[in-house]
This record gives sequence, C-alpha cells and structure tokens, in this order.
Amino acid sequence: MDQILFVDACMRGREVSRTWQLSQSFLSACQARWPRAEIRRRDLTGGDLPPLTAALAEERDRRAQSQPRDPMLDPAWEMRGAGLVVIAAPYWDLSFPSALKVYLEWASVLGITFRYTDEGAQEGLCRAEHLVYITTAGGPLEGQNFGFDYVQGLGHMLGIPRAHCLAAQGLDIQGNDPDVLLNRAREDALLLAGRL
Ligand SMILES: Cc1cc2nc3c(=O)[nH]c(=O)nc-3n(C[C@H](O)[C@H](O)[C@H](O)COP(=O)(O)O)c2cc1C
Repeated sequence: MDQILFVDACMRGREVSRTWQLSQSFLSACQARWPRAEIRRRDLTGGDLPPLTAALAEERDRRAQSQPRDPMLDPAWEMRGAGLVVIAAPYWDLSFPSALKVYLEWASVLGITFRYTDEGAQEGLCRAEHLVYITTAGGPLEGQNFGFDYVQGLGHMLGIPRAHCLAAQGLDIQGNDPDVLLNRAREDALLLAGRL
C-alpha cells in the first residue's frame, strides 16, 4: 500500500465529530499495517468545491481533453491514483452531507476515472481494490444505509470492486451509551484494517 486517500466529510470538525474519531482509529490501524503508506486528506468540511453546474461540467470535460493535469481535475486524479479509498461521512438525512456528493461528481470524470470500451461497456479506471466507508448515525442504519449503497455503486463504476462499511449506529438514541458503541466500532476498525 503506497497511498491512502482519506475523503473527509466530517462536517462538524475533528473536535466533535464521532465519525472523525472512528475514521482516525481506522487510519491508525492502516498506518500500523502499512507504515510507508502516505495518507492524503481531501478536506470537504469547508464546502470549497462548487456544485457541478452544466457550464462547469462542460469546462471540466473540455479540460480533461486538452489540459488533463489542470487542478480542476485533481479530485479525479487522486481517486484514480489511490491504493485505498477511505471516505468518512456522518449519516445525514438517510445518506451523507451534500459536500460529499459534490466531491464525487468532481471525481467521476470520463477518461480519468472511467471510460467506455469500443463495445460501449463502462469500465472503471481506478486502481484501488477496496473502498472503506465510515459513518456514524444517530438512529438505526439497517435497511436504509443509502449513503453506503450509493458509494459502493459508484465505486464499482469507477473500478473499485470491493466496498466495506464501518459504522456506529444508534448514537443519539436515549439510553444508549455512545462511547460504548463507538468503542465497539473501533474494534471493528482494527479487524477491518487487518482483513484488507
Ligand atoms: C444535518 C443532520 C442530519 C442528520 N440526519 C440523520 C438521519 O437521517 N438519521 C439518523 O439516524 N441520524 C441523523 N443525524 C444524526 C447523526 O447521524 C449523528 O449524530 C452522527 O453521529 C453525527 O456524526 P458526527 O458526530 O460525525 O457529526 C443527523 C444529524 C445532522 C446534523
């Protein structure tokens, strides 16, 4: 493992976000497993990427042809080049914060992260074998983990065959102890890092 892309959509910030805390447990375990791996963080918490309007999408596709190393295409290149993709996003309104959707649109670029074969089949161009989606939820996730379902599907499209969800759920339910639930998820994080 040489490069881990850490996509940080923990919008409440590292001081308070439980998703951030869980992501750090997982990344520490990855660092122990692959000491030479570089972790590159894509910070989405400032909402710096603009929503992809038609004009921006056209401009982006034009640059993908004529100036493929233009910074506008950085999200796509970093997604393509990562050996492991780790996405951390809290469970918001049954999926994830919109900043992550915006980023994933910028990362999905024809000719960089996916292409069409001569036979018209869609083919992913990313090299990661695994994508790890980390989330924490106030309530239950079962049967409605739509953020993970979507990211898994997009990962397939981009050529990342396996997706794993690392989650702590029920953190805001009265009577639950969020620390206990988070600690359990931290144990899952260690096991997952060992299995990849
Ligand atoms: C804008 C917003 C939307 C949320 N939507 C949901 C939801 O649909 N279902 C749910 O169970 N919890 C929801 N929650 C609660 C969060 O999933 C939960 O508190 C989570 O642990 C927050 O993660 P964080 O500590 O990393 O910010 C929402 C919280 C916020 C702030």
